[in-house]
Amino acid sequence: MKRVFLLGHPVSHSVSPAMHNAAFRALGLNWEYEPLETSREKLREACHRLRTDNCAGANVTVPHKQAIMELLDGVSETARTIGAVNTITPRDGKLFGENTDAEGFVAALKENHINPRHARVVILGAGGAARAVAFALAAAGAREIILINRTASHATELADRVHARYPGLRLAINWREAIADANILINATSVGMWPNITDAPLPPEQVVSPHSVVVDLIYNPLQTRFLWDAKRAGAWTINGLGMLVHQGAASFKLWTGRDAPIQVMLDAARKELAK
Ligand code: ATR
Repeated sequence: MKRVFLLGHPVSHSVSPAMHNAAFRALGLNWEYEPLETSREKLREACHRLRTDNCAGANVTVPHKQAIMELLDGVSETARTIGAVNTITPRDGKLFGENTDAEGFVAALKENHINPRHARVVILGAGGAARAVAFALAAAGAREIILINRTASHATELADRVHARYPGLRLAINWREAIADANILINATSVGMWPNITDAPLPPEQVVSPHSVVVDLIYNPLQTRFLWDAKRAGAWTINGLGMLVHQGAASFKLWTGRDAPIQVMLDAARKELAK
């Protein structure tokens, strides 16, 4: 039996084991996806475990997506650009890091028939998720990206990183007036995530354009306060489930070499979230 591990802390509430195990079963693979509760101190030890024979891969989640990079034998250009790894594939005892969050995000937009080309995009947040989304949108041809974040220096850091790679892209920081006429508005902060489901990353009086697409990367709950407010304002809303499934599908393909059964993964994730 082959094993895939999820390294993070905490990982007990993760939906990924149910989602990937359902996919392995659907394809008749004798594989098992297991959460591996890993503290910062135990990260190196966990990496040793990934080099063993029956380990076919791993996911990395909060808070290790950045710290893991220096423990790997190589990282993809995408992961290096984003500055975070969420997927590991072992090859001949060596570990390679990839980031499938950006690909997952773009696939989720596409599934909703949203094309970010020439769009004015406002991203709330400047952490790991925001980074993946910012680079995905820059690569997809967004016209302008405005980063709004509690800690301004984190937003500046991310803007500098994106600018270095996409010098022609218009970037701004903490420009709240841009929200009212954004084409796409994205919550990439953790505000509103279970159990703090009454919190929202924007005050309720914030004007959101009824013509905008509003995305929350949070999938637990599926309907965040932020999405409720946006929906009430008349915007088209998208929750984080699509990105979760599509980043998982991209990782699944890296480990198994096979196309992931998207619908099976979506159903399993939904079922797990409803528990
Ligand atoms: P992830 O990998 O999920 O992106 P992260 O890297 O810890 O997690 O980033 C979390 C993001 O949510 C950050 O942008 C953080 O803002 P700071 O840069 O100021 O820390 C934002 N965030 C978290 N809690 C928040 C809160 N209570 N209010 C506003 N922003 C918050």
